[in-house]
Amino acid sequence: MGNGQVLSTLMHRASVRKFTEMPVAEETLREVVRAGQQAPFTGQMYSVIVVTSHPTRERLRPYLGPLVMQAPVFMLICIDFLRLEAFLSSRGRSNRLDDMSMLFLGIQDAAYAGMNMVSAAQALGLGSVFLGAAPFVAPALAEIFQLPPRVYPLVGLLLGYPAEHPPARPRIPLDLVFMRESYQRPTSAQIQAALEVMDQGLLQEGYYARLQAMIPLEKGQETHDYTNYSWGEHIARKYGQMRPRDVLAMLGQQGIDVNRVPPPGAGA
Ligand SMILES: Cc1cc2nc3c(=O)[nH]c(=O)nc-3n(C[C@H](O)[C@H](O)[C@H](O)COP(=O)(O)O)c2cc1C
Repeated sequence: MGNGQVLSTLMHRASVRKFTEMPVAEETLREVVRAGQQAPFTGQMYSVIVVTSHPTRERLRPYLGPLVMQAPVFMLICIDFLRLEAFLSSRGRSNRLDDMSMLFLGIQDAAYAGMNMVSAAQALGLGSVFLGAAPFVAPALAEIFQLPPRVYPLVGLLLGYPAEHPPARPRIPLDLVFMRESYQRPTSAQIQAALEVMDQGLLQEGYYARLQAMIPLEKGQETHDYTNYSWGEHIARKYGQMRPRDVLAMLGQQGIDVNRVPPPGAGA
């Protein structure tokens, strides 16, 4: 594949939330996950649980939302320390790295694999969308999928043949992200301009209206409708009204303790 094709695949990707009922062949699913594996890794600390059965997706619905019923395939991408530690123990070693550092590395392994899977799926004619609730409903997913200790759900991925072909969505201007030599704080004019780009781009698509994704205000009269509700308002409500989740406790239930400092290893 020429460079142009790779770039074009990346630049034309958009999350797909409407799928046909056409099943996805086992071989195609394996190809997607295999491409995920070819992502850069530090310890291959992830596993992918593939679900096509209706009853299992029905069990996931209360935790991951109705979208999970709309695609023929759901994949749960998990951070997996269990297997890495099995490799170590086969060499008579135990893991001396603290769990907070493990999480930084494990999240990267799983996320880069996940993104490779998204691009591979796209190249195979599939659409996809991540489902981000997974780490916050870990106890339920641990039960449904019998996740052992040292395995933690990172993100869901829905896959199927697309029944919509959305345009590539806007992004904040490159100059806010691309910094030379040192960090550059955004000016308030740049912040305003970036929000404008995002808001106008998504309004033009009718993005939030189509998804009916307006987050209600917790207090006071509604100030927006779908003619002016866009990204700036959405993230302000989403993060501004968020409640903290007890992720530490959920990690603990999966045997991951970010406060634990491992004893020094042999020779340390
Ligand atoms: C970690 C993560 C979690 C996400 N969770 C959801 C989700 O639960 N539901 C959903 O519809 N889209 C979800 N998305 C998709 C984003 O909404 C989408 O990528 C973003 O709005 C940009 O749109 P695009 O992917 O079409 O460019 C998630 C994306 C990421 C990276």
